[in-house]
Amino acid sequence: MIEIKDVYFKYLNFPTHILEDFSLNISKGEIVGIIGSTGSGKSTICYLFNGLIPHHFKGSFQGSVIVDGKDATQIPVEQMSETIGYMLQEPSFQIASAYVESEIAFGMENLGVPVEEMENRITAYLEKLGISHLRERSTSNLSEGEKQRVILASILAMKPDILVLDESTSMIDSTSKKELIKILKDLKVKEEKTIILIDHDLDFISKLVDRVILVNHGKIMANGLPTEVLTDVELLKRNGLVPPTLTSLFHEFKVNAFSLDKIPTTYDEAIKILTSWLK
Ligand SMILES: Nc1ncnc2c1ncn2[C@@H]1O[C@H](COP(=O)(O)OP(=O)(O)O)[C@@H](O)[C@H]1O
Ligand SMILES: [Mg+2]
Repeated sequence: MIEIKDVYFKYLNFPTHILEDFSLNISKGEIVGIIGSTGSGKSTICYLFNGLIPHHFKGSFQGSVIVDGKDATQIPVEQMSETIGYMLQEPSFQIASAYVESEIAFGMENLGVPVEEMENRITAYLEKLGISHLRERSTSNLSEGEKQRVILASILAMKPDILVLDESTSMIDSTSKKELIKILKDLKVKEEKTIILIDHDLDFISKLVDRVILVNHGKIMANGLPTEVLTDVELLKRNGLVPPTLTSLFHEFKVNAFSLDKIPTTYDEAIKILTSWLK
């Protein structure tokens, strides 16, 4: 689905290459988490997917980026939005229209979706995201969680196969986070979307992803199952990350000589281990 090969990239105003000989493959239907501390290059990697690099961010670029068979380095960014939906970190920056309904229509208009089909999709995605009641509302006085769902609806209405969510949990409360987890799981199962999540919140990541990619200074430091990467407390700390709460707790148990074959990543696994100790 996404094939990045031998990419070199240096921002115009940045002294060194942020990406050097960078390669990455993501398959259709995968949910991949990209983690790393601030400035590690997570967003830079995502700018490759829809061609923001090299089209929008200037600098020196070399390499190949093929997304769903399309050459992202050649096709205009607007055209890539048919294939890839990118949700930015700050929802307010991404809202372009005064009303919810027109916001969701906006992307589809650019793609030339017929009016009747547009109507159907607006109704369907408002309902899917549980925000039908917001249809006539102004976009200026929505909460962050509401704004985020409106943006997600507008992206999904363009029917991209790939969704990229760049730090989208940083502005929302824990209830909205739980709802977002449900929505994303549903999109994977029912619509076979490929989903790429960038997040600082490793608890959020651990609940969703099939694979975790850890980056530091634009390099892939680890690429594997969440049960491998997210339980490696030393690796996470070495790369400036705070391990998930559960992982830290069970890591401490292990360090303190409790018998443990593996460190759990889910509450279910944790409860199983705790129950076995209590027997
Ligand atoms: N537009 C830009 N111009 C110059 N340097 C940039 C630009 N955007 C990001 N950088 C630099 O590239 C590095 C990676 O940034 P970024 O990909 O935004 O990291 P992350 O998303 O992991 O926080 C940082 O050191 C940052 O300062
Ligand atoms: Mg970023």
